[in-house]
Amino acid sequence: EDELHRIANLPKIELHLHFEGAAPPAFIRGLAKEKKVDISGIFNEDGSYAYRDFWHFLEVYEAATSVLKTPEDFARLCTALLEESARNGVVYCETFLSPDFCGGGDVTAWREYLHAIREAADAAERDMGITLRGIVTPIRHFGPEKAKRAARCAAETAGDWIVGLGMGGDEKQGRQRDFAYSFDMAREAGLRLTSHAGEWQGPSEVREAVEDLGVERIGHGVRAIGDLAVVDMLIEREITLEVCPGSNVFLGVFPSLKEHPIERLRERGVGVTVSTDDPPFFHTTMKDEYLGLAKAHRWDEEVFAMINRTALDAAFCDAATREAVL
Ligand code: HPA
Ligand code: ZN
Repeated sequence: EDELHRIANLPKIELHLHFEGAAPPAFIRGLAKEKKVDISGIFNEDGSYAYRDFWHFLEVYEAATSVLKTPEDFARLCTALLEESARNGVVYCETFLSPDFCGGGDVTAWREYLHAIREAADAAERDMGITLRGIVTPIRHFGPEKAKRAARCAAETAGDWIVGLGMGGDEKQGRQRDFAYSFDMAREAGLRLTSHAGEWQGPSEVREAVEDLGVERIGHGVRAIGDLAVVDMLIEREITLEVCPGSNVFLGVFPSLKEHPIERLRERGVGVTVSTDDPPFFHTTMKDEYLGLAKAHRWDEEVFAMINRTALDAAFCDAATREAVL
């Protein structure tokens, strides 16, 4: 009991958090009311987000995000999500942000959103000791052309705060290689690369993200477990997985935490890390993730210390920032 308590309160590194997906339903309802937009259809009677499966989740996600209109709205969300992360012991976090939702891919507009978000993040760092960095997110089901606009926004704002490019969205649309132009543009701008793969598609999708896009981290990647040659490729190339166990179980990718492959991947030697993905949508928090893994896989404090070391080593920020957080 005492050890579980200590585990829940460990300082945590989170590498995979969708910015809009971290918006509590009450926050989105409040904005909808202010702006007189009716999105009541996306909520259950108890106030939680209502959706049937992952693909419906993406629709509900976009409907919820539609009430986030101004840079100020995004700044308010930034403060709210960092308060929640700090409550969960998170000391460093990387978040996926889409220019598609922040000015529609226009670079000038994107800079204004980014400025407002960074101000909120800097204030949270001063007040709560939590560090945030941004990963620009092309949305796969919006297609390669929109991805290029997102990547251009990323390249134009690459630096100490925008640290990477990371594709999200529906993994069943198109191929990883359709987005190679965007990933090349980001790489040339000095950005680090990650892509969602191996959550809904099998091991070959993970291989394609690595070989066709040159990513050094994978969002999820857990279905690599279906082909040990792909698992060994991840080990050999030192690719880190951004694993979101609670999200996977909630969406039915695996039936339970006990059956989740995170422990088998870790034992074999893959660099695994732990994140929440879209916490209010999947009814999870970083504390819940840690407690669930401690119980399901008998992970002790030492294992979590290793997980956080792996996460910090794979973080996209500069070395000075990394050394200051743990
Ligand atoms: N997966 C993929 N794309 C997303 C997600 C997610 O969990 N959240 C927002 N976009
Ligand atoms: Zn994700």
